[in-house]
Amino acid sequence: MRTLIQNGTLVTATDIFQADLWIEDGKIAAVTGASAPGWQADLTINAAGRYVLPGGVDAHTHLDMPFGGTVSIDDFESGTIAAAHGGTTTIIDFAIQKKGGTLREALDTWHAKAEGKAVVDYGFHMIATDATESVLREMGDLVREGVTSFKLFMAYPGVLYLDDQAIFRCMLRAGEIGALTCMHAEAGLPIEVLVERALAQGHTAPIYHALTRPEAAEATGTERAIALAEMARVPVYIVHLSAARALERVREARDRGLPVYAETCPQYLFLSEDALRGTPEDPFEGAKYVCTPPLRPAYHHEHLWRGLRNYDLQVVSTDHCPFCMKGQKELGRNNFAKIPNGMPGIETRLHLLHEAVNEGRISLNRFVEISSTAPAKIFGLYPRKGSLHIGADADVVIWDPNCSFELSHKNLHMRVDYAAYEGKVVRGAPTHVFSRGELIVEYGQLRGRPGRGQFQRRSTFSL
Ligand code: URP
Ligand code: ZN
Ligand code: ZN
Repeated sequence: MRTLIQNGTLVTATDIFQADLWIEDGKIAAVTGASAPGWQADLTINAAGRYVLPGGVDAHTHLDMPFGGTVSIDDFESGTIAAAHGGTTTIIDFAIQKKGGTLREALDTWHAKAEGKAVVDYGFHMIATDATESVLREMGDLVREGVTSFKLFMAYPGVLYLDDQAIFRCMLRAGEIGALTCMHAEAGLPIEVLVERALAQGHTAPIYHALTRPEAAEATGTERAIALAEMARVPVYIVHLSAARALERVREARDRGLPVYAETCPQYLFLSEDALRGTPEDPFEGAKYVCTPPLRPAYHHEHLWRGLRNYDLQVVSTDHCPFCMKGQKELGRNNFAKIPNGMPGIETRLHLLHEAVNEGRISLNRFVEISSTAPAKIFGLYPRKGSLHIGADADVVIWDPNCSFELSHKNLHMRVDYAAYEGKVVRGAPTHVFSRGELIVEYGQLRGRPGRGQFQRRSTFSL
């Protein structure tokens, strides 16, 4: 099968140029200017007036994840269908070690969740919930199987929390085996006290989720994560960074030449703490926006955009962790601490980031870099993913920069019963999405079959 995408404007992390792109046997076979290779195409698409981009890489998703007394509502089928509709062709999801369980059990469980369901390609990070000798040993087995990053939590005491010694042991081990440590960097123990105190004072509404997880908790967590990584002499990747002072800690470390990386998420760039107040009629509407770290006051947005422009932030991932209002977020109607933490976003990341290009916040090249190329490089998928190189997987998005698209529940495929940006209209959307050469979405119609997505073994960290 040979496909020709003709007359498009190819956009990579570094270049913008007019060319034809040929796909053969699932790979990018040629990128041609004036002289075509003289081949016949089985399928030709005229992409004049549109961009041709490498497929999006979302390095932070939680599909079918047990959390907060319930399970995230998108499984690997609905979640990857939504990803595909939004132009994301690879996700990296988080497997979770059960307390006292093995990493092997966790990995097998997540492979079973994805098997037969995924429409796009997927990899796994592993969340380690202890640092016993056997877990440290198993980390090496996972790396050999292409699971080359481990997420550790400073938050959620009694659930996912690890103390500094356990984190440090995991980091040292990660250094030995070439793995990357991803940190949820919020000081979880004092946060727990703030939550207890707020509840004792009768504060139960969603806004108290934000008020009990202050910026200082994230700033000190980030600083501590960096210090531990510096002592262990390993790279560290700060996940879902939300706040100006946490970003300062990252910038300061990078200025000292440390291998510190960080991602932020669209919710921290486009939404603010005010959303957690809900409506005057129903403050509980704010539960839609309960995620961790919490949404911050709007002035943080400018800091994060600057961080993305300045390369202090390298990646925008979604932290897609969707829970319906009905039956899920409702668990915390009388107690904000029982609202399952997380927001939907796997489908709308590229729309929102392209809107930032329209607004002049980032360049078109930087849009491709932070949503595709940089996560592919950091997480050992490049150049197979995140590029338009000859020989790369033909994960390709044809993007119409001029069509308008409403980010409303009726237009989206995530299974959650609300839309975080309901009513927001953006300019730009994918018209065609290819995964390994197969057309999986065409003008909003799903063509790819659940189960076609393949597990991606990732290389060890090598930046
Ligand atoms: O609210 C969030 N972020 N839920 C998912 C868990 C995590 O910490 O990433
Ligand atoms: Zn986290
Ligand atoms: Zn997460």
